[in-house]
Amino acid sequence: EVVSLETVPLAGKLGAEVRGLRLSGQLAPSTFAALKRALLRHKVLFFKGQQHLDDAEHQAFARLFGELVPHPTVPSRDGTQILELDSQHGGRADSWHTDVTFEAAYPQVAVLRAVTLPSHGGDTVWANTAAAYDELPPALKALADQLWALHGNDYDYAATRAEPGAHGGKKYREIFTSRLIEAEHPLVRVHPETGERTLVAGHFIKRFLGYNGHDSQHLLAIFQAHITRLENTVRWRWSPGDVAIWDNRATQHYAINDYGDAHRVVRRVTVAGDVPVSVDG
Ligand code: SIN
Repeated sequence: EVVSLETVPLAGKLGAEVRGLRLSGQLAPSTFAALKRALLRHKVLFFKGQQHLDDAEHQAFARLFGELVPHPTVPSRDGTQILELDSQHGGRADSWHTDVTFEAAYPQVAVLRAVTLPSHGGDTVWANTAAAYDELPPALKALADQLWALHGNDYDYAATRAEPGAHGGKKYREIFTSRLIEAEHPLVRVHPETGERTLVAGHFIKRFLGYNGHDSQHLLAIFQAHITRLENTVRWRWSPGDVAIWDNRATQHYAINDYGDAHRVVRRVTVAGDVPVSVDG
């Protein structure tokens, strides 16, 4: 049986809302297969009205994609593999990144659910790293194809955030970097399921192999500018009960930090991924 989901595209390059689906660990295999196809196509999917998801059901649903992996340094919520991002404790992901790229086999998929939201602000924006690659001029594509980068959890926070110390950010950073984790990745990976070429970049890059820090920052700025062009993004305004799922191999995201002292809490589960394969195999 081939199930078709009601998907409503939200922007030109990525992102769709899926309507009429109650997320759970009990989805029929044909329904899950349709959801997976939609995810590979749209790269980030949004679901409203999922208030029924508690931590256990959130995890049970995410497990349909594969094995769950806790964050390597930030302690999970008690008894779970859930990362809680609390705005009052530095949990503000307000710079462009793909999740956990400082790991060799970084997560393939993330499932994020809104728990506490400010009355306004706190939207999240995603960008399509496959379209960004596709649209590079040929000479930049050729350069990207052969670049490798060192990613680390101790990247330069000051270069990416206006006020890294505010709202508990300093303490959060201490926890985040309590153990140094680094990985080298090709800048361009071949997506293991779609075959698309995607850019592996974002704030965890410390430098490109064979380039000094100065040149690395300039190179990174060029590729990030292509990735984060507004035309290459989709923005989600959260309501209680909303869930977002993204293909972490084909996107970056940015949680907009425009709500001051208001409280925002989201919970995220990540699914084990594989080591990126470069265009040379
Ligand atoms: C994240 O970076 O995974 C969290 C995004 C968000 O807080 O909206």
